[in-house]
Amino acid sequence: MVERSKFEFKPFGQPGGGSVVVFVNDALETGEDAAKALGPDALATISRAAAAENFKGKLKKALVIAAPQGIEADRLVVVGTGPAADFSKLDWVELGGAVQAMLSGARASLYVALPGHDVTPEAAADLTLGMQLRAYKFDKYKTKKDADEKASKPLKVTLFVHDPSAARQVAKARDAVAAGVLTARELVNEPPNVLFPEEFADRAAALEKVGVDVEILDEKQLKKLGFRALLGVAQGSHREARVVVMRWNGAGAKDQPVAFIGKGVTFDTGGISIKPGAGMEDMKGDMAGAACVVGLMQALAQRKARVNAVGLIGLVENMPDGRAQRPGDIVTSLSGQTIEIINTDAEGRLVLADVLWYAQDRFKPAFMVDLATLTGAILVALGQEHAGLFSNDDTLADRLAAAGLETGEKVWRLPLAPAYDKMIDSKFADMKNTGGRFGGSITAAQFLQRYVKDTPWAHLDIAGTGMNAPQTDINKSWGSGWGVRLLDRLVRDHYEG
Ligand code: BES
Ligand code: MN
Ligand code: ZN
Repeated sequence: MVERSKFEFKPFGQPGGGSVVVFVNDALETGEDAAKALGPDALATISRAAAAENFKGKLKKALVIAAPQGIEADRLVVVGTGPAADFSKLDWVELGGAVQAMLSGARASLYVALPGHDVTPEAAADLTLGMQLRAYKFDKYKTKKDADEKASKPLKVTLFVHDPSAARQVAKARDAVAAGVLTARELVNEPPNVLFPEEFADRAAALEKVGVDVEILDEKQLKKLGFRALLGVAQGSHREARVVVMRWNGAGAKDQPVAFIGKGVTFDTGGISIKPGAGMEDMKGDMAGAACVVGLMQALAQRKARVNAVGLIGLVENMPDGRAQRPGDIVTSLSGQTIEIINTDAEGRLVLADVLWYAQDRFKPAFMVDLATLTGAILVALGQEHAGLFSNDDTLADRLAAAGLETGEKVWRLPLAPAYDKMIDSKFADMKNTGGRFGGSITAAQFLQRYVKDTPWAHLDIAGTGMNAPQTDINKSWGSGWGVRLLDRLVRDHYEG
């Protein structure tokens, strides 16, 4: 369990020591309520210090005044928000991340106000989300902690806001989302000797505590059900495969569920088509899709989302041993369609083929979204800024794109078309598992589409965004937890009753 800060909301009043955070615009003005509570002495101290330090209130820039006079605070942290005209663009989540990095000690008080700007309960709650995302650090395997460790210790935070009870309410939901993101990050960061399929399934089972129904299918059951494409990938590993079905029932029993499916390859050596050694350690993150689904189910359950959601993850380890699958093998998938294995390193689509089919067949969902670190080619196409989006449904695709802009977890749609689909026709079976060098992310998506019937479906290729993530104000972790906020937002905006 990741240790987290505690947040409380109060009407504007006197600070209680520790770090005191004040937001100012580029005219160095703070909100009326904050100004009143802080008092003229503190404001005079701020303007004197700002002049001395040439502080101009630019967005995310800070002025730290140690042991200020006339105010109960160890440090006064003045945080710029830039010019008033940009307020609407101000991202409170990111600002929260930036603020978190400026704090030290055990206590902080935030004056959540700006002049001429009605700071909403959502804004205050978003600050707490950003702070939590920024504070996360994966250092459980370091026996000697860094010197800057104290910066990420859990804090006791007081937020002074206009409407404490409303802010408290929204913050509860944000807290659930933060918890989900941190769960996903932790799973992605864990080493592959610790987090193998059975262990991953056990961690998913911990969601029972927040009211998620968890069912674990073991190898015997998977064999009986006919998950042969998935089991073919797992057969070269000593670790057994698992499929986990998670259910959150937050709506009426008759409400059609929405479904999220994740690729959970706990380590991808490539199998017999083995990968080169350089950077192979990164393939511990080849379960980022499954990690996102677990984190999402946690977030939905913890904030009691009024939706029926199912999460399904396919967990395998792709290893080369004497029993491993070979190039040339032909397997019969759960759908009955046959697949010629060309490259054992194109394993994610084999896992997803069976899990997608199963999800659709068993739950008849209103839509399915799958997430997978599926292709290196998506990094070539989109870098690490956007995940690749493929869909058979324009409405779903548009909603995902919009949720991406809202959360900053951005997606970019790429095409599906019969001409690409042809590229995976096989000489010997119904299809082959690779389509050649060109359009590698697209042919992978075409492969998945062969396991989707009429259900609206979207595939997110997160090989560039789910792991080895760029450092931002709200993420310093290798495993980003990408997708939890995106899909939580999709559900919140469109699928809650
Ligand atoms: N897990 C990899 C994709 C990947 C690459 C994820 C880089 C994250 C970073 C996937 O299983 C894979 O190996 N894909 C192959 C497909 C190819 C054999 C058709 C690839 O991208 O090279
Ligand atoms: Mn692979
Ligand atoms: Zn893989």
